[in-house]
Amino acid sequence: MATIGIFDSGAGGLSVLKEIRKALPSGHFIYYADNAHCPYGEKSAEYIRERARTITRLLLERGAQAIVVACNTATGAAIADLRASFDVPFIGMEPAVKPAALGTRSGVIGVLATAGTLKASKYLNTKGQYQDDVRIEEHVGEGFVQLVERGELDGPEVERVVRASLQPLLDAGADTIVLGCTHYPFLQPVIERIAGPDVRVIDPAPAVAKQLVKVLQDHKILPSSSFAGLTGESPALELLSSGDPTTLRRLAACL
Ligand code: DGL
Repeated sequence: MATIGIFDSGAGGLSVLKEIRKALPSGHFIYYADNAHCPYGEKSAEYIRERARTITRLLLERGAQAIVVACNTATGAAIADLRASFDVPFIGMEPAVKPAALGTRSGVIGVLATAGTLKASKYLNTKGQYQDDVRIEEHVGEGFVQLVERGELDGPEVERVVRASLQPLLDAGADTIVLGCTHYPFLQPVIERIAGPDVRVIDPAPAVAKQLVKVLQDHKILPSSSFAGLTGESPALELLSSGDPTTLRRLAACL
């Protein structure tokens, strides 16, 4: 059974864990929520790199054989440094600009992400590959992370906060919205309700789960047949956090 470490600034990465558990039903997962230091979105890249190194050490001490950086902001700020510093495979988040650019009919895609992700060179490189073909409109999901960390996922206040960041993208003609922060899928029902049925909302988590399986097979942590063969065993999950675990536990129980 593979032991996988997963971390995020808070509960957001549970949206990635959900997809990973579907792909690896008998995996052993150690999830670390750095909620005492959340949000990462406005923090410096150096600060996030330091947190990522500390969390990685802790996950490795607990036996992680691969680590999923289930946070777009931390991926942008720290994954290159982590790969250079630790001898374990790392899987990061990738905003789904490619499928959005390939699928848009209006020629306009909207990216919702944190300020840190939108200025990271990883995202800017991806964007650079597609911005000649489609218009890419961006907006920080202002207050989204805080809502999810409080476990507030619906209601009039949530709708007001979500609309304030989403509407400018819709007004610009976006027919595809990329969720570029792992907290945002928790608000996907509200996002889809506001955007309406003609707008496609893309969460990259299923693609990340698929990539994890491939990396585990490439590193012989999983035999190449296990993706299809593993079923039936009860999945193990350890939840760790640097702050109050209440919301984390509640959201994890709904996965
Ligand atoms: N969930 C994170 C992300 O994917 C971090 C959000 C934050 O802490 O600002 O970017």
